[in-house]
Formats: sequence, structure tokens, C-alpha cells
Amino acid sequence: MEPTTFGVLADGREVRQYVLANSTGMTMQVIDYGATITSLSVPDRNGNIRDVVLGYDSLDGYVNGSAYFGAVVGRYGNRIGKGRFTLDGSEYRLTANDGENHLHGGKVGFNKVLWDAAVAEGSGSPAIRFTYTSPDGEEGYPGTVTLKVTYTLTEDNALRVEYEGVTDRTTILNPTQHSYFNLTGNFNGKILDHLLMIEADSYTPVDAGLIPTGDVLPVEGTPLDFRAPRAIGERIEDAFGQLALGGGYDHNWVLRNYTGPGEIHKAAELYDPESGRLMTVSTDQPGIQFYSGNFLDGTAKGKNGIAYGRRTGLCLETQVFPDSPNKPDFPSATLKPGQAYRQTTIYQFSTR
Ligand code: BGC
Repeated sequence: MEPTTFGVLADGREVRQYVLANSTGMTMQVIDYGATITSLSVPDRNGNIRDVVLGYDSLDGYVNGSAYFGAVVGRYGNRIGKGRFTLDGSEYRLTANDGENHLHGGKVGFNKVLWDAAVAEGSGSPAIRFTYTSPDGEEGYPGTVTLKVTYTLTEDNALRVEYEGVTDRTTILNPTQHSYFNLTGNFNGKILDHLLMIEADSYTPVDAGLIPTGDVLPVEGTPLDFRAPRAIGERIEDAFGQLALGGGYDHNWVLRNYTGPGEIHKAAELYDPESGRLMTVSTDQPGIQFYSGNFLDGTAKGKNGIAYGRRTGLCLETQVFPDSPNKPDFPSATLKPGQAYRQTTIYQFSTR
């Protein structure tokens, strides 16, 4: 797996692109800037292979963009209210980069740094491991954190994402993968006809800043009920307060099948009736953020010069709940020295 040069950063460092391919035709391109997936090409029901993730043609887009296309976000995926939290009696203040709140690791999150890359041997499938060491105090977070993210492409068209993180001081860690999927492979169209199923009976409602209120509410009787597959566009404009706040779906669902660290369970299923492409998301995390691409507004010029309009892609981000550091009843994102943070999330592709 020989890398090619994808671009050069302002400080002269080279950004490299790697191609992972299995023997059945699925391919993935990934760069060491942000450990970003730049393309993911999978067959439809007739065997036509198309790229199903949004992204940019060149490094410029990734450096200057603010949509987190394809990147690993961290240290904390999603928001922390007012960018503040207390750990072991000390208060920490993180960069506020989303109004008064902290989002996806701050101004220079894991998506905006160069990672070390190494081809990962051993599993028999093409795999690459990215490593980033985040210095103590970066974006306000305590502790030096080293995070490894391994992408493996299996013969049965699964993308396996494994995370492993350690720290030298008590801190918080909640990285996630921020790919925007559009299973039609046509980025001029929207994701509103995709059918989504989420293995969740409840969700965490948010306030106007998209910070969880701390409540856990049933999805039953609301447009957030995806217990059975439903078209994303079916209820997205319903007069329901939570949808108005997010401009559509932008919430954390509480995964029913979560039993504890390390236990992988099915979290969601996304299906495009037109192409027949089906993506199943499995994870060992307690929550998933379904973000329907509401803030895409056509200003981001993506691959092949296509301007990405509202809802041309959607994210399914496996995670600990947003603002957990300030919500004692939510699953904890605390990581202590001597412990290892671990996450496995699998995006399995097939057709129907
Ligand atoms: C969040 C959105 C945010 C987007 C940024 C998503 O993970 O849920 O609220 O605007 O990332 O691209």
C-alpha cells in the first residue's frame, strides 16, 4: 500500500493518501490529515460501484472547511456546554468554537492535524493505523493523549474502525468518525429518501444551543421514532420543537442494545431503495448522533466541483452522549492514566 501525495500543508509538511481495496471491488481512500476518509466506494444491487461519502477534491477543502467531512473528530465528538467541565475538583475551559459551546474538539481538533500513518499487518485484510499525540492542554483539555485509529476493509465489504487511546492525566475522550453518507452515490441529490432504522427507544433532547437538557425521553409518538425503518424526509419538517432546534435531525439516540464496554451491538441501518445499498452500523458505544446534514448550505464545493446543498449527506456518529462531562447520569467519557479508551465501530455494506 504505497501512499501518494495528496497535498502540502502551509508549513511544508506533505499530506499522503492511501488506498485500501478488497478483492470484491470495494475501495477506500484515506489521508493522514484528520485520518480522513476521502472516498468509500461500494457496489449497488447491480454491482455498480460508487463513492458514497462526501468530501473534497483537494487538501484545501479539508484545511479550510468546517463540515468535518470524513474525519475523525476529537478529543470530544459533539458538544460540551459552555466548553466547561470539572474533573477531580479542577475546572477546565475548552475552546468555544460553536457559539459559547465547544464542538468536535475545538478550533484545531483531531480533524485538522496530521496523523502518523502505518500499514497495519496481521489481520489479512487491508488496514491502516493512524496515530496522533495530542499535547497536554491542547484546546484546553488536560493530559497528553495518544489515540490510534485503525481502518480495516474486510472481504465482506465492512469498514471496521478501531480506536485505542491512553492519557498521562485524568481527562475525557470521545472520538468518533464523521463521514457523511449518501448511498445513492449522487451528491446532487438529498438523503431524504433513505430509510433509516435506529436501535433506540429513547433520545437525549437538546436546548437551543444543541446541548442536552439531561433528560432521556421516549421516541414513541415523535418524529424521532426510527425503531422501524422510516424515510428520513417523511417527518423531517414536522412541527416538533426538537426538529426546529436542530434544523432537522441532529440528536443523540440512546442505543437499546448497549450492555457495556467492548460489547459490539447493532446500532442502525441505512438503506437507499433506489440503488439497493444497505449500510449497517454496529458499535460498542452507548449512543449515536444522527445528523441529517442540515447545516450544509451549498458553500462547500465538494468532489467533482459539486456544491453540497442542505441534506446531501448524513452522519451516524457513534459516541458517548454529548455533554456527558456535565451530566452525571450519562455514560462517562472520563479516561484515567493506566486505562485504555477503546471503541470498535463497523460500517457493513451490502445490498437488498
Ligand atoms: C453535529 C452538528 C454539527 C456538525 C458539524 C455534527 O456532528 O451534530 O450539530 O453542525 O457535526 O458538521
